[in-house]
Amino acid sequence: MKSGSHTMLAEERQGEATLIAGSNPSGARKLYLESYGCQMNFSDSEIVASIMQKNGFQTTRNSEEADLILLNTCSIRDNAEQRVRNRLMQFNHQKKKNSDLMIGVLGCMAERLKAKLLDEEKLVDLVVGPDAYRELPSLVEEVTDGRKAVNVLLSREETYAEINPVRLDSNGVTAFISIMRGCDNMCSFCVVPFTRGRERSRDPESIVHEAKYLFQEGYREVTLLGQNVDSYRWNISKKGDILNEKKETVNFAQLLEKVALVHPDLRIRFSTSHPKDMTDEVLYTMAKYENICEYIHLPVQSGNTDVLKKMNRGYTREWYLNRIQAIRRIMPNAAVSTDIITGFCGETDEQHDETVSLMKEVEYEFAYMFKYSERPKTLAERKYEDDVPEEVKQKRLEEIIKIQTKSGLKRNKASIGKTFKVLVEGVSKRSDQKLFGRNSQNAVVVFDRGNIQPKTYVDVKVVDCTSATLHGEVVK
Ligand code: 5AD
Ligand code: SF4
Repeated sequence: MKSGSHTMLAEERQGEATLIAGSNPSGARKLYLESYGCQMNFSDSEIVASIMQKNGFQTTRNSEEADLILLNTCSIRDNAEQRVRNRLMQFNHQKKKNSDLMIGVLGCMAERLKAKLLDEEKLVDLVVGPDAYRELPSLVEEVTDGRKAVNVLLSREETYAEINPVRLDSNGVTAFISIMRGCDNMCSFCVVPFTRGRERSRDPESIVHEAKYLFQEGYREVTLLGQNVDSYRWNISKKGDILNEKKETVNFAQLLEKVALVHPDLRIRFSTSHPKDMTDEVLYTMAKYENICEYIHLPVQSGNTDVLKKMNRGYTREWYLNRIQAIRRIMPNAAVSTDIITGFCGETDEQHDETVSLMKEVEYEFAYMFKYSERPKTLAERKYEDDVPEEVKQKRLEEIIKIQTKSGLKRNKASIGKTFKVLVEGVSKRSDQKLFGRNSQNAVVVFDRGNIQPKTYVDVKVVDCTSATLHGEVVK
């Protein structure tokens, strides 16, 4: 999730469920759609809305008037699932008053729990996994006919490539483009390979086409999304062989370049990079194009090599720090953010201290920090004991949050006096006399409104900051 805060707890991040809305011509059935979890889930909801609109549903912001309620869910940590269960109970209450109301679960929880959600928990009518959204309209008809419906088949091909997402809750300035689905990495803590299936890349032509379309529609920033964007590959085998001699091959660096060439005024961001796969070629491409933002989200998870090995991350502390050096060398002004897990199986105080020292060395602009939450079926659940006590996980989390707040503030202070090109996104939450936008480094910048319009670029000189926000004055 995009956020202006430099430290964010897991709980806060998962609290960012968002309502999704639209217009509502009379006659259409009404869909209320709520999304949880990662950016990919929010992007998927836009595909779902598109599929449902074509099949006679209009989205609504008001769950009370809905004929169909869909929750697009996250399984990454246990508390994410608990939050959805609570929400489902609320909606079941609503169903007591309106027995025609249909309730469905989409996304990772649907995939993980499958028919259990229907049979044991009896909370829903409809369970649809992330690769089965094209089937949603027919599954909804089954439910309308009085049956329960499930489709949790995962696919090796589905990328929803040609579906034009309905931009939901959009500011009209920034949009997501999904470039691949699934994950083949098998980090030992992570449920995603089980819920989102095998990795597959989307046709680059359809990606460029979507970027062009968004630019024409007035959007000025796209974020290319994938669980591991560095392993994007088109017409290239996993081993690196060309699959079809007659077709073009495209790796992630080349895809970035293609999207950057759509228009110099279209900014490009991407997420998420993987330290084991991030190449210098990607960094050189970023440095070459002014419209590719100088910001990398590079999750480290732990600063200790033995913990990283148990996590099956495929790199050491030294390798990670070498990637950070490459970023600094090739793009001296780049901002770097990360994800960190505290209290992974067997993590000792000394190993935790190595995470602390790595954070102090890198001085991240931003970090998402979590306590380890054991997930069923993962390698870690099968192989290791979740033996770090809750209080210790919590204490370590609080310690790293403090460090992050400090380095975030230090980084922001270093921006004072500098001038940045800012893409204006909208009116500031705190004051309607102020606008906010982001610089290339993804920092939120707030400044006086004047005659400036959203979707434009302005040069802003930073004069002050908090740990979350830069405050500036428009230059010229
Ligand atoms: N427990 C805690 N955090 C997790 N993440 C993934 N799986 C777990 C888990 N089981 C975190 C990782 C990942 C981010 C999206 O969520 O830090 O990068
Ligand atoms: Fe949550 Fe991961 Fe699924 Fe995204 S892919 S919704 S973060 S479990």
